[in-house]
Amino acid sequence: MNDKLLVVKEDVDRLIATAIQEIGTAESSKALQDIRVKYTGKKGELTQISKQMKDLEKDEKPVLGQLINEFHQTFNKTIERKQEEVTQKELAAQLASESMDISLPGRRQNFGTRHLLTQTREDLEDLFLGMGYQVIEGPEVELDSYNFEKMNLPKNHPARDMQDTFYISEEVLLRTHTSPVQARAMEKHDFEKNGPLKMVSPGKVFRRDNDDATHSHQFHQLEGLLVAEKITMADLKGTLLQFAKAFFGEEREIRLRPSFFSFTEPSVEVDVSCFKCGGQGCGICKGTGWIEVLGAGLVHPNVLEMSGIDSTKYSGFAFGVGIDRVAMLKHNVDDIRHFYQNDLRFLTQFKGGQN
Ligand code: DAH
Repeated sequence: MNDKLLVVKEDVDRLIATAIQEIGTAESSKALQDIRVKYTGKKGELTQISKQMKDLEKDEKPVLGQLINEFHQTFNKTIERKQEEVTQKELAAQLASESMDISLPGRRQNFGTRHLLTQTREDLEDLFLGMGYQVIEGPEVELDSYNFEKMNLPKNHPARDMQDTFYISEEVLLRTHTSPVQARAMEKHDFEKNGPLKMVSPGKVFRRDNDDATHSHQFHQLEGLLVAEKITMADLKGTLLQFAKAFFGEEREIRLRPSFFSFTEPSVEVDVSCFKCGGQGCGICKGTGWIEVLGAGLVHPNVLEMSGIDSTKYSGFAFGVGIDRVAMLKHNVDDIRHFYQNDLRFLTQFKGGQN
């Protein structure tokens, strides 16, 4: 071996010795990567040595090539072994830093409750579904003709004053009651095919009202309608007694008082015996023993005829319940506005499903 080759060999030997030592003290993947670059990178120390290849004799070149190969083999093996060790340590450190305390209590999921008005509406629907009625919904934005005219309230009828509302145009308004759904259902009904018409219709209604503890410009009703042959007040009374017992308790009685609605004749106000005092007289029934819960009557022949039903063959009864009102009565809610203020302290008191 001539001098030049000897010097180069010594350089390579020294280089591998220092590289092995540096690898031995490296503590991280990053440090190992830096060492790789330092020795074998483009500007690395081994690369510098390889450049001397061009100064060697022809037969010496393979010898240097061999030395460089050996350097790579030793260098790579050493660094790989160290990499394994470092990876283990890094993983252990990462796991330790990311460990979590599984004894911490979990976060509780907050469940909502159905709004008391929704619960009440669904209870009422269930009750009438059980008696063979179907549930039909009508539009909240309604035509004057359905809301008033087909309910036997022609234009300029004085009884319209009691139900002033929000008008979208002369002929389009926010419905003041659920009664117009009676007309919509009757127009569509086919007695030949489907037999008697038995339906309830729950929903939102609107009035121009000054809001106070018992009045809101928006509230809810459930309309009831049964049309068939030979329907009488006895059918109405029997049905409403069923309702009163199912909704307010088995011991309830009902009482009918004469009233006026343009779409029924005769018309009645229906009272339920007080479920608080049983009839003795208390704060809830204002000392009378009776609580007014709804309006009802036999469907006026004009209403049947305007909806295309032969009033000489068919008759019917109808009733309208204030959903807010019966919910307030049953749950002792003292202000209708509680229903519309979204105050969780109020809403979460009614966690029930069925009554
Ligand atoms: N629509 C009436 C109102 O809002 C309530 C009502 C009374 C409905 C008597 C009826 C009924 O179906 O027969 O004041």
